[in-house]
Amino acid sequence: MGTHHFFFLFLFFILLVLNFDITTAQISGFVSLDCGGQTNFTDNLGLDWTPDNQIIYGITTNISVTNETRQQYQTVRYFPADNRKYCYTVDVKSRTRYLIRATFLYGNFDNNNVYPKFDISMGPTPWATIVISDANTIESQELIFLASGSTVSVCLSNATTGQPFISTLELRPFNGSIYLTPFENQFFLSVSARINFGAENEDPVRYPDDPFDRIWQSDLVKKANYLVDVAAGTDRISTSLPVYTGKDEQPPQKVMQTAVVGRNGTLTYRMNLDGFPGYGWAYTYFAEIEELGSDETRKFRLVLPGEPDVSKAVVNIQENAQGPNRLYEPGFENISLPFVLSFKFAETSDSTQGPLVNAIEISKYLRISDGSLDGAVAASLVSGYKLSDWAQEGGDPCLPVAWSWLECNSDREPKIISVKLSGKNLTGSIPNDLTRLTNLEQLWLDGNALTGPIPDFSGCPNLKIIHLENNQLSGELPTWLADLPNLSQLYVQNNLLTGEVPSGLLNKNLVLNYTGNDSLSKGSNEGRRNRNIIIGLAVGAAALFLGFITSCLLLHQRKTHPKTEPKHSVPVTNNATTEADQSFTLSELRNATKNFENKVGSGGYGTVYYGKLNDGKEIAVKVLSNNNVYQGKKEFQNEVTLLSRIHHRNLVQFLGFCQEEGTDILVYEFMHNGTLKEHLYGPLARERGIKWLKRLEIAEESAKGIEYLHTGCVPSIIHRDLKTSNILLDKNMRAKVSDFGLSKLTVDGTSHVSSVVRGTLGYLDPEYYISNRLTDKTDIYSFGVILLELISGKEAISNESFGSSCRNIVQWAKMHIESGDIQGIIDPALGNEYDIQSMWKIAEKALMCVQPHGNMRPSMSEVIKDIQDAILMQRGVETAAREGSSDEMPRHTILNMGSLDLMANDQDLSIDESFARPGPR
Ligand SMILES: *[C@@H]1O[C@H](CO)[C@@H](O)[C@H](O)[C@H]1NC(C)=O
Ligand SMILES: *[C@@H]1O[C@H](CO)[C@@H](O)[C@H](O)[C@H]1NC(C)=O
Ligand SMILES: *[C@@H]1O[C@H](CO)[C@@H](O)[C@H](O)[C@H]1NC(C)=O
Ligand SMILES: *[C@@H]1O[C@H](CO)[C@@H](O)[C@H](O)[C@H]1NC(C)=O
Ligand SMILES: *[C@@H]1O[C@H](CO)[C@@H](O)[C@H](O)[C@H]1NC(C)=O
Ligand SMILES: *[C@@H]1O[C@H](CO)[C@@H](O)[C@H](O)[C@H]1NC(C)=O
Ligand SMILES: *[C@@H]1O[C@H](CO)[C@@H](O)[C@H](O)[C@H]1NC(C)=O
Repeated sequence: MGTHHFFFLFLFFILLVLNFDITTAQISGFVSLDCGGQTNFTDNLGLDWTPDNQIIYGITTNISVTNETRQQYQTVRYFPADNRKYCYTVDVKSRTRYLIRATFLYGNFDNNNVYPKFDISMGPTPWATIVISDANTIESQELIFLASGSTVSVCLSNATTGQPFISTLELRPFNGSIYLTPFENQFFLSVSARINFGAENEDPVRYPDDPFDRIWQSDLVKKANYLVDVAAGTDRISTSLPVYTGKDEQPPQKVMQTAVVGRNGTLTYRMNLDGFPGYGWAYTYFAEIEELGSDETRKFRLVLPGEPDVSKAVVNIQENAQGPNRLYEPGFENISLPFVLSFKFAETSDSTQGPLVNAIEISKYLRISDGSLDGAVAASLVSGYKLSDWAQEGGDPCLPVAWSWLECNSDREPKIISVKLSGKNLTGSIPNDLTRLTNLEQLWLDGNALTGPIPDFSGCPNLKIIHLENNQLSGELPTWLADLPNLSQLYVQNNLLTGEVPSGLLNKNLVLNYTGNDSLSKGSNEGRRNRNIIIGLAVGAAALFLGFITSCLLLHQRKTHPKTEPKHSVPVTNNATTEADQSFTLSELRNATKNFENKVGSGGYGTVYYGKLNDGKEIAVKVLSNNNVYQGKKEFQNEVTLLSRIHHRNLVQFLGFCQEEGTDILVYEFMHNGTLKEHLYGPLARERGIKWLKRLEIAEESAKGIEYLHTGCVPSIIHRDLKTSNILLDKNMRAKVSDFGLSKLTVDGTSHVSSVVRGTLGYLDPEYYISNRLTDKTDIYSFGVILLELISGKEAISNESFGSSCRNIVQWAKMHIESGDIQGIIDPALGNEYDIQSMWKIAEKALMCVQPHGNMRPSMSEVIKDIQDAILMQRGVETAAREGSSDEMPRHTILNMGSLDLMANDQDLSIDESFARPGPR
């Protein structure tokens, strides 16, 4: 006991020490990598440098450049001039704005005097081409970006001359928002010029004068076409008085204490703008640092050739900044600029003093690449092999060039089409992530030490070539292999596979080698069929029954469950037909509802009553109001037929109908926990609100129900009235989508159908409302609104909740999210019990869903993927789940853990007890 005590104290102490270390490192958050360096050191500015020895690629070497004594410039790391990319991956804090700087001092490291030329990229986004033109001059590139994940990668590639190399990589976090732009989710800011006018000498101003270590270039530096054509009468001035600059990322005081003045009335400059022409972000920084007499004024305009609008605004620094020695910072968030920029400040006719400028900053917008479509899956895949070289290539799997063991197609958002991991010493089971590369054409895993069964690749219909030979794979050769339409080569020899080769494979025209599996036999087709019948029976009537009553074609069903194919079936009963016309009598329903005594809800289309059938089954009885949508018996029957075809665990189960005495009644399973709406706001919410994780799960479940309507049924079904009162919760708080009263079969083969606009205010897709064109993107809009409600706990439309100018959750949330203020919309009832990153993930997806134009909105399956990612973040069990899946765990266990890799299977007909139970009659 005593020792235990001591041990815990000791542990606590260690944790304390560790914690301390981590926090001091994070206070500044600076990362300064000395590429090719060997030791840690602190430079004379006080910056802490670390060697880049975590990167396993490249060669380090010493260089020597006259007059360059800084230690970080005594070494470089260089890479082979091949077709690969070489990446540095640096940890960042998501939703933080950063400056990243890469520098390159060639120094003739290869004794070749061939000046290298190569590309750098920021993840998948091409950043710049580095062109060395002098062995002793440092080339530098800077980007300002908002981190969207937990790491960023800077990659070197495409060596057109010489060998790619790098000297330093520096990361500096910002903590304010002057670099916030409305476009920062689509564009990086590539810094082109940051100039300190009137500088004391040629040295740049940087850390520690600038706490963010921006480099403010001196205007005295001599280089080609840099600040030339200076107007006569340009004076350099400075002050030693403090200049008030505000507390954000405004230029440091030292920069603002110097300036140039145009004594003859103008200031003129011409310079080359790296990276332009293009659209840019350009800011000017002014502070009145001369003492002006009471009768003196300094008023001037900016003049840009070809931009007459720009010169309309008059700058009067003292007035604009409300006093001397204070910063005034007008700028352009989006302006088109040329490569050769000439600019002029000219005094106005009523000004007594010439123009003055302290600093300017110009950046170019660089469009962020979305990266390859399989990026997340690939990241998940390699994270399971942290120690293997092949898993450490970093960056995007396909862009700007693919990892060495992958091939990608040339789509704008490329997809992985080939995985070649032959002989990589892989152990454990075949990673499930591979099955999520749905465009895969070739899979090479031969010559490893892989064990366990072959996972389900039926979701990769393009597979042509599969090499699994020379491993220790066990289990049967799966039958879905025979259903891969393009499969032409299958090598599984020298494994430990058992059972029989599926007859479908033997009958298929393909190269198949399964020798060297001692317990795998060719078998007879006869034996196989018999066995399948037995399995079919054992799986239970339920599966077969479902197989037939559902005419909604499940896209994956046939592939993943060949056992339910007719040829394996037991004789078909007429379950199918009895289910479809499951009619109740009115008296039966009167009985069940005690003469419609217990009203549990009402909507635009009728009133819902609680009922209990004679066999104890609880039901919800929806009595449609008279002016209902069904004009006659036929339409009603059509609707009912539609409803009877829809089976999914996240859709409220339709049990039957009744049409008597002019009343139309629909009968559904009873959902004990009511509507999502009640749980988000209202008395129930106050009593026991639902936590963020549960909200995410509800979002996932209802999204799956909707996805099924969109993609699981042929023809697909658009719900048209999604809202929180149409998402119901069963007794286990599992969400199901209800009310298909408005659903309408879409016309097969056309992308939209026109009909009368129906829906609920606040959830209604504006595009649909205006154009009357109904597509599945109409549901996506409504679902986006539901996501915003889950985040905020606020109703879609409200006169009070959103302040005076706004009644609508979409407008309100958009405003907050886009300005980075997510806290402003989070439901206070959630307290602090949520992961901010998972919150961001959902918030951003929600905004995508409510884009004004349908074609900009994601599909339901994309939405599901992000919700699942958010769930993983929230659970913090991403690694646990992955480790779990590498064991031979039964699939359903993985599924219950909410693992992200089973989307295909989620479309299965679940053997849900509500299905398996006999119907109400
Ligand atoms: C350098 O510093 C880092 C932390 O900044 C530390 O993790 C690492 O061990 C140090 N390396 C050496 C060689 O001292
Ligand atoms: C580089 O310089 C360091 C320190 O001067 C020295 O220890 C190291 O051996 C040198 N490396 C090479 C490859 O010359
Ligand atoms: C190096 O510095 C010396 C003295 O400061 C100077 O005379 C010389 O021109 C510099 N050489 C280069 C290549 O910059
Ligand atoms: C490689 O660089 C050359 C020359 O800069 C360029 O033309 C080419 O497009 C680049 N290739 C890729 C894949 O970026
Ligand atoms: C600028 O002013 C100075 C003195 O006032 C004068 O000598 C000079 O000619 C002027 N230059 C121009 C270009 O007007
Ligand atoms: C394969 O992996 C095992 C264990 O991880 C290791 O001992 C062995 O050296 C590796 N072999 C090769 C060729 O990398
Ligand atoms: C099948 O694989 C075995 C073992 O690698 C090999 O010896 C044999 O030639 C192959 N058969 C065919 C038909 O390719």
